[in-house]
Amino acid sequence: MSATALSASQAIIDLFDDYVIPNYRRQPIALVRGEGSRVWDADGRCYLDLFPGWGCNILGYSPPRLVQAIQQQAAKLIHVPNTWYIEQQGRFAEFLCSRGFGKAFFCNSGAEANEAAIKLARLHGSAQNRYRVITFENGFHGRTFGALTATAQPKYHEGLGPLMAGFRYAKMNDVETVRSLIDHETAAIMIEPVQGEGGVRIPAPGFLQTLRTLCDEHGLLLIFDEVQTGMGRLGTWFGYQTLGVQPDVITLAKGLAGGVACGAMICRDEFAADLRPGMHASTFGGNSLAMAAGLAVGETIEQEGLLQHIQQVSAAVRTQLQGWQAELPIIREVRVCGMMIGIDLTIPSGPAVAKCMERGVLVNSTNDTVVRLLPALNVSADDLDEGLSAVREVLEEMANQA
Ligand SMILES: Cc1ncc(COP(=O)(O)O)c(C=O)c1O
Repeated sequence: MSATALSASQAIIDLFDDYVIPNYRRQPIALVRGEGSRVWDADGRCYLDLFPGWGCNILGYSPPRLVQAIQQQAAKLIHVPNTWYIEQQGRFAEFLCSRGFGKAFFCNSGAEANEAAIKLARLHGSAQNRYRVITFENGFHGRTFGALTATAQPKYHEGLGPLMAGFRYAKMNDVETVRSLIDHETAAIMIEPVQGEGGVRIPAPGFLQTLRTLCDEHGLLLIFDEVQTGMGRLGTWFGYQTLGVQPDVITLAKGLAGGVACGAMICRDEFAADLRPGMHASTFGGNSLAMAAGLAVGETIEQEGLLQHIQQVSAAVRTQLQGWQAELPIIREVRVCGMMIGIDLTIPSGPAVAKCMERGVLVNSTNDTVVRLLPALNVSADDLDEGLSAVREVLEEMANQA
C-alpha cells in the first residue's frame, strides 16, 4: 500500500474521529465500492466478503438489476408518504404475501418491524388485558426499547433501565420453562426461527412446532423474527417454510431490499385490522424507492432460481465444514441452515475473523466463539471456495497454536 493510498482511508477515519459518535467498533477500513461478493477500500484493496452488509446485501454489492431498479425509480418518484396509495408498495406486498401469507406493514429496519409486531400483539390482546411477550435467551431483536427488551441478553441492557414492562425470557428448546411463563396476561411468543446474532442456533427438532401448539392452546400470537432468516436466506422465501411451522406474524428487514433500508411486518389476515389507522405508522416506511428495490431483489431471486441453488450450496457447505470439524479439534460444532453458517469454536472467534481479514476475506464473529458467514445468495462457487479455504487455513493455524 502506498503512503498516498493509505491517506485515503485515513482521511475518512479522521472525519469519523472528529464528527461521528463512536458507538460502533469499526475496523480501520473505509469501503468505497463493491461488485458481487467483492468490495474495495479507499486504498484500492479488494476483499472477498462472505458477510456482506451483515446479511443486508443478499445479492452482493450493487447487483445490476437492483441498481437499475433504484435508478429508474429515483428518476420517477423517490418518496411519497402513506397518505397516498403507492403502487410499488402494493406490488411488493403482493409479492411477499403471495409467497407467504397475510398482509404487510412496511417500515425501515428490523427493530421497527419488531416494534410493529409487539404493538400488534398488544393491540390484539388488549380487550383481555393480554400484553406480555415471551422471548428467548440469546435472541436478538434490535435496539429500540421494545425490541431491546425483547432481546434477552443482559449485555445489551446495561445502563439502559428501566426497560419496558411485559417481557419474559425463556430458554431455547426448554418447553417446560415456556409453559410455566404463560399466564392470562400473555399475548405472544416471539422467536427467531434460527438465532443469528446468538450464534446461528437452530432450534431442536419439534421445538417450534411445540410453540405453535402452545400458542394455539392459549390463544397467543406466534411471532417469528425473520429479519435474518427471511427473503430467501434459508433456501425458502421465509425461514418458517424451511422449518415447517406456520407463525401468525413474521418480521423482515436486512436483505429485504438488498441493502436499501426496508423492514416489514406480515401478519395473518385476521389480525391485520388490529393495527387500525392511527395506531402505528412510519414516515419513510414502504416508500417507492425501497419498494422498487425490494421487488427487484425478489424478482432476481426468483428468476435466477436462487432458492433451489442455495439449498444445494448449503448442503455441500455443511458436508465440507463437518469434515473440518472431524479434523480440527478447535471446532466444537458447525451449524448451517441455508446461507446462514456458524462455526462454533472452543476458543474465541474474534482472532479468527481478524486473521481472515488480513487475508482479504470478511467474515463475522458473534456470541464470543462463533465464526459467522452470511454469504450473498448468488455468491459464485469460486468465491465461496476461495473464502472458505482462507477460513480453513486460519482455523488450521489456530488449531496448531492451541
Ligand atoms: C433477528 C434480528 N432481528 C432484529 C434485528 C434488528 O435489525 P435492525 O438493526 O435493522 O434494527 C437484527 C439485526 O441484526 C436481527 O438479526
